[in-house]
Amino acid sequence: MSSASATTRVSLTIDGHRIDVEAGTTVAAALVLAGVHGTRLSVNGQPRAALCGMGVCQECRVTIDGRAHALACQTLCREGQNVRTQDGAGTR
Ligand code: FES
Repeated sequence: MSSASATTRVSLTIDGHRIDVEAGTTVAAALVLAGVHGTRLSVNGQPRAALCGMGVCQECRVTIDGRAHALACQTLCREGQNVRTQDGAGTR
């Protein structure tokens, strides 16, 4: 008898690159899994990335399905989702 259960996977696109993650994964976690180390640039052009993981710092803002300033740490990955980091912020 096997105790293993099949996990549901979802496929999304991050800065034009497709990634499959386990259902229930946050966009912030998917960014890390995809090797994306930045979400946006500060007003001084410094790369920013998720910090608090709980919706407070606002450093994880990305564009999701055309909606700017979405919090990656508070958004679950969905099938077919399109995530964009700010130009140059998502260095791999
Ligand atoms: S990581 Fe701080 S608001 Fe998302």
